[in-house]
Amino acid sequence: MKNPIKWGILATGYIAQKFADDFSHVQNAELAVVASRTLVAARQFAEKFSIPQAFGSYEQLIEHTDVDVIYVATPHVYHYNLMMKCLDAGKAVLCEKPFTINAGQTHEVIQKAKANKLFLMEGLWTRFQPVAERVNELISNNAIGLPHMMSANLGFRCDASPGGRLLNPELGGGALLDVGIYAINWAYMIFGAPNNIVSLPVMGSTGVDETSAMVLGYDSGQLATLYSTIKVNPPQRAIIVGEAGQIIIDGPLYKPTGLQLVIEGKSTRSIDISFPGHGLHYEANAVTQCIQEGKTECERMPLSETLSIMQTMDTIRQQWNFKYPGE
Ligand SMILES: NC(=O)c1ccc[n+]([C@@H]2O[C@H](COP(=O)([O-])OP(=O)(O)OC[C@H]3O[C@@H](n4cnc5c(N)ncnc54)[C@H](OP(=O)(O)O)[C@@H]3O)[C@@H](O)[C@H]2O)c1
Repeated sequence: MKNPIKWGILATGYIAQKFADDFSHVQNAELAVVASRTLVAARQFAEKFSIPQAFGSYEQLIEHTDVDVIYVATPHVYHYNLMMKCLDAGKAVLCEKPFTINAGQTHEVIQKAKANKLFLMEGLWTRFQPVAERVNELISNNAIGLPHMMSANLGFRCDASPGGRLLNPELGGGALLDVGIYAINWAYMIFGAPNNIVSLPVMGSTGVDETSAMVLGYDSGQLATLYSTIKVNPPQRAIIVGEAGQIIIDGPLYKPTGLQLVIEGKSTRSIDISFPGHGLHYEANAVTQCIQEGKTECERMPLSETLSIMQTMDTIRQQWNFKYPGE
C-alpha cells in the first residue's frame, strides 16, 4: 500500500465545498490543508470538512511542504497565475474548468508542467463520471450505429449580482467559459476536435455572452449543435443521433444520472447511471491514482484536449469580437 496522496484545496467557494464533501469517496488520499484569502473562511471550511490545517493565504498553501497536489477552485481569471505558482513550487495541480481564459495561457501552463515534470489536469469532471463510460461503451458496441449528429443544451438562469464571477468580465464571466464548455466537451467526447465552427452570441448588459448558439462541423460529415446560456433555464438535454438509434441524456449535462437508449424501430430503454455524492470524487480518484503511478497526465483528460477545447473557445470568442480585459 502506497502512502496516501495529500491534497490541498485552494479557495473555499461553491465548488470547493462540493469537492470536499465528496472526498470521503476518494481512496488512498487525504484532505490535508485548505487555503482561503481569509483565515476565518479557511478555518470554517477546515472545521466543516475535518481538514487538519488551514491557511489564510493561497501562497502559504502553495509553499507548504507537506502537500502533493493542489485543487484550484477560484474564479477562472486567477487559474493561470495560481497554476504557474503551484507548478513553480513543485506541486501537482488539478484546476477547475475552464483551465484558463484563453489558449495562450493554457499553453504556457502546460509547458511549465512538462518542464517541471509535474502532474497537471483540468477538472472537466463529466469525463470521469459513469455517464462517459456508458456512452463510450454504447457507441463502441455499435448500439446506435455510427454517430452522425448531436445536440447539447446547457445553462441556468443566473440571478447573481453584476459584479459576481458569472456576469463580470473582470472575473472571466459569460456563459461560454462557464457552461458552454460542457456542451463543447460533449462534442469532443463524441466527435473530437471540430474542423469548422460557426457561432452567434447574445451579449448582456455587463458585456459578457449571456446566451450563444454554436455549430461544430467535422470533415468526416458530422455536426454538433450546441447552446449555452446563463439567462434562462433551458431544458438540459443532449441527443446523440446515430445511423441506427439515439442516446438521449436529460438533466444537468455536467453530471447526468441516467440516459435513454433508442434503437430505431425496436426499443427504448432507460438506463440508470446514478452515483453517490456530487460526482467530483471520480476525477479526484483518477488524479490520485495517476500521481501514485508517477504519471504527469491523465489519459481520460489529456492536456492536448484541454488546449484544443480552449482553442475552440478562443475561435468562438474571436467570431464575437469578445475579449476579456487585459487580453
Ligand atoms: N465542476 C463544476 O461543476 C463547477 C461548478 C461551479 C464552478 N466551477 C468552476 O470553479 C471555479 C469557482 O467557481 P465557484 O462557483 O466555486 O465560485 P465561487 O463560489 O464564487 O467561489 C470562488 C472562490 O474563489 C475565491 N476567490 C478568489 N478571488 C476571488 C474574487 N475576486 N472573487 C470571488 N472569489 C474569489 C474565493 O475563495 P476564498 O474566499 O476562500 O479565497 C471564492 O469563494 C470556476 O472556475 C468555475 O468555472 C466548476
